[in-house]
Amino acid sequence: MAQATSTGTSASPQPGLDPQTIERWEAGVANERTRREPPASFPCLPDLPAGRYSDPAFFELERDALMKHSWVYAGHTDQLPEIGSFFVRRQSGAPILVVRGEDREVRAFYNTCRHRGAPVTRVDAGCAAGTFTCGYHGWTYRLDGTLKAVTDVRDFAGLDPTCRSLVPVRCGLIGNFIFVCEDPQAESLEDSLEPVAQYFRHLPLHDLRLVNQRVIELDGNFKVVLENFLEAYHFRLLHQQTTHRIFDASGTSIHLWPHGHSMMLTPNRRANWVDPGTIGMPEMATATTIERDHNPSYNVFPNMILPISASGIPCVVMWPISIERTLMEILWFAPDWGGGPRDPLWETRIANFDRIVDEDIAFVAPIQTSLTSPGFKGVPLNYQERRIYHWHEELDRRIGVERIAPHLRVAPVLAEWLKSA
Ligand code: FES
Ligand SMILES: [Fe+2]
Repeated sequence: MAQATSTGTSASPQPGLDPQTIERWEAGVANERTRREPPASFPCLPDLPAGRYSDPAFFELERDALMKHSWVYAGHTDQLPEIGSFFVRRQSGAPILVVRGEDREVRAFYNTCRHRGAPVTRVDAGCAAGTFTCGYHGWTYRLDGTLKAVTDVRDFAGLDPTCRSLVPVRCGLIGNFIFVCEDPQAESLEDSLEPVAQYFRHLPLHDLRLVNQRVIELDGNFKVVLENFLEAYHFRLLHQQTTHRIFDASGTSIHLWPHGHSMMLTPNRRANWVDPGTIGMPEMATATTIERDHNPSYNVFPNMILPISASGIPCVVMWPISIERTLMEILWFAPDWGGGPRDPLWETRIANFDRIVDEDIAFVAPIQTSLTSPGFKGVPLNYQERRIYHWHEELDRRIGVERIAPHLRVAPVLAEWLKSA
């Protein structure tokens, strides 16, 4: 049986966020603040076809490519504190059971009994006492997915239990973050997250704890929700009293990377500014001026947004439910605060971030209504919105451009820009 096991990235020889990179990124911010126009060599981005947001066949191709063939976030190891701890994820489609085994490895399986397909567990999270027992006829599985016992086994002529283990789903760890991928042929988690993961290596990813989870369903296409988090163009109007007062979007420097990953680095409006709501909270000692003096907001392709600060990482993860409905998770991770409950400051901090997100998502349903109108003809993107175009280019690569109707394709024009700006 193929076995899903957990892995880490600590052995990687990649340099990470070194002083030269920091200097280069900060120079990019300074350059953005003073530029008067896009670089002369920057291409005119073709309009994104309107049908990419409303064509049912395209939506199915997109969902399949992103949810079934890409590595996606599944959870955090804090959700699996004990041997036998488990949770079930449904966000990517098929229910996936993620469990900590007797050897403390994290594994993932389809939550589907190998007899007649009932769910192995009907509870979304808990701690199994050594086995899972299907509630329909009682087949019993070990925590590593192998079939341990079959009810009335004498009635199954020739049944080989070694061929009836739970079907594994690939599962891997980056620090304490659990990712899954349903495609056995997809590249490894480590390869697929490069180069974005190298810029996290200086951070104590193995010590980060899960602080909070919030889940919202939105009346809008997945990309309407996601694209909002790929640009700072909307800060000035949509976040007049929040983000716009803190960050200087005129200095936003954008980095496009292979695998569809990207980052926008937006400087704090005032030098040496510290969020007063975070004073006294433990910080990541290895955080750099990138995280302290800027908002580095990463997109881990396809659906994960991480704007990192020294004292905590909010994380927005988006999932297509249907062509016009999206599930959004808002998570918080933070350095270990030792024993006891989390700092009371978190209540305000989470509420402050939720306020910003609420400003964003207030536009989702109105946009969704608007973009199904005949008045929606396509999307012209500007220089500072180029992460969105980059994301769409990668989507077409993942789907396979020949499978996309010609009028719905995006022309790849950003290959030359897949380096730091
Ligand atoms: S479907 Fe699970 S034991 Fe029958
Ligand atoms: Fe926003």
